[in-house]
Amino acid sequence: MMNIIIVGGTQGLGRAIAEIYLDQGHDVCVCGRDVSKLNTWEYRHAENLSSYSLDINNQEQLLGLFDHYKNRSVDLLINCAGIYINNRAQNLSESDTLELLNTNVLALNQLMSLTAKKMLAQKMGHIVALSSVAALIHYPDASLYSATKRSVLNLCDTYRTALSSYGIAVTSVVPGYINTHQLRFLNSGDASGKLFIVEEDYAASLIVKKIAQGKQQVIFPKRMHFLMILLGLIPDKVLTFFLKPKKNQ
Ligand SMILES: NC(=O)c1ccc[n+]([C@@H]2O[C@H](COP(=O)([O-])OP(=O)(O)OC[C@H]3O[C@@H](n4cnc5c(N)ncnc54)[C@H](OP(=O)(O)O)[C@@H]3O)[C@@H](O)[C@H]2O)c1
Repeated sequence: MMNIIIVGGTQGLGRAIAEIYLDQGHDVCVCGRDVSKLNTWEYRHAENLSSYSLDINNQEQLLGLFDHYKNRSVDLLINCAGIYINNRAQNLSESDTLELLNTNVLALNQLMSLTAKKMLAQKMGHIVALSSVAALIHYPDASLYSATKRSVLNLCDTYRTALSSYGIAVTSVVPGYINTHQLRFLNSGDASGKLFIVEEDYAASLIVKKIAQGKQQVIFPKRMHFLMILLGLIPDKVLTFFLKPKKNQ
């Protein structure tokens, strides 16, 4: 039985992953800024579920989480906390820019650093972070979101190199579109038209399976991965022309 922390587990993919681990009997601590979202969750009375209210950008709250675990191991930490703001069609405000950078990159680095410290002391553990297929292609007009998700891949590579000889694994998860509440919200309630979209439960089961197999990177769905490889072969200028946001985007 593992002690598992899921940061960004109050809704969406993180919550779907939590459900699988709860069903498997592991102790799962779900974290997010608003843990009251769990009040209507069917798993809310599960004995192996706990929650911890934190904003990943708040260092004191992150330290508080690890203090909460000072007498227990953290076997697996999964970070699903991440935000999406589209800036290909219009410039981001200063505050949106900082929020994206802080949440998706700087706070993740802080979380990974604190987790690494804890796992080095216990000499084992597994860290998982959510990137996106948007990270796999780079061209001049790409969004800040995709750049932050490239940073997630780089952070995972760096921590893996640093920690693997101490028995600590690091996995980056690189999904295409997942039919979460947030994706539907961003698409006026219906994300079904998104290319190669997969259901939340499918994505969660695949991620749990690949974590158990100790994979360093999990890219899915395969069709989206293949498309990204093809797009990566196209010169920047041509890619910029074809991926230019439409006027109403
Ligand atoms: N859905 C997709 O199509 C897709 C595709 C590729 C990658 N991803 C990535 O997968 C991850 C999960 O996506 P999702 O669709 O499940 O997103 P979501 O529904 O928006 O869930 C994000 C989770 O992160 C938490 N969170 C956000 N900001 C936080 C903060 N500052 N501190 C602590 N927790 C915070 C939210 O809870 P609170 O509001 O309670 O804080 C929520 O539990 C994200 O990193 C996303 O970029 C998603």
